[in-house]
Amino acid sequence: MRLDVLLTAGEILPADVAGRTVVVVDVLRATSTIVEALASGVRTIYPVASIEEALRLANTLGREEVLLAGERKALPIEGFDLGNSPREFTPEKVGGKTLIISTTNGTAVMAAAQSASRIVIGSFLNLSAVVADLARSGAEPVLLCAGREGKFGLEDGVFAGRVAAGLMEALPDAEWELNDGARAALALVEPYADLEALFRATAAGRQITDAGLEEDLPFCAQVDRHDVVPVLHDRQISAAPAPPAAAEASE
Ligand code: MLT
Repeated sequence: MRLDVLLTAGEILPADVAGRTVVVVDVLRATSTIVEALASGVRTIYPVASIEEALRLANTLGREEVLLAGERKALPIEGFDLGNSPREFTPEKVGGKTLIISTTNGTAVMAAAQSASRIVIGSFLNLSAVVADLARSGAEPVLLCAGREGKFGLEDGVFAGRVAAGLMEALPDAEWELNDGARAALALVEPYADLEALFRATAAGRQITDAGLEEDLPFCAQVDRHDVVPVLHDRQISAAPAPPAAAEASE
């Protein structure tokens, strides 16, 4: 079984993801925010690459019907309703709403994964749920790290390593075929077990701290805060249906 990790967005070729299950990773903070928003009961999420596209889509759907969210340089976009801090996406703020979100790296990488057969959104907030979903589906996943402006983001690499380690543990009899990115990601798991310390040291973490949003770092370091599995399909993100209890018991 193949398990591939693409450590930077610059590595993505449509052929790498075509027909595969892809896990998009941008733990600081886009994928953490999307998981939090879904767990807070948002109805659906449209991830878009540019601010212009977000405004156009809001116009089409009706501005009063949607919430606009996102960041540039970690700060909220002018005129938008929300930034990209997962702490803002409470049930009171986003429950039952339609969300359009645009971020610097995470939503752009989602667009690049369009040729995949299934696109899952992963963060530490839903780590075990993602691993269980991949194990159940028998997927040979590609873990797609957003990083920052095409450069490697250590926090995303560590997450990819945690998913790979979890999947190999969940399916111990499988013969895993790992690419170099997967081997590198696995090697990061142990040295970076302290996620908060990791986040404070990374370029993304420092940018968020400089933006005065330091509290987002411990928030995004909460492993398994939720068991939701967001899936991007047809330009929209919604929660994957929970697995049928019976089937799970028989597995
Ligand atoms: C991104 O997509 O670039 C990040 O999520 C940015 C951020 O959260 O500051």
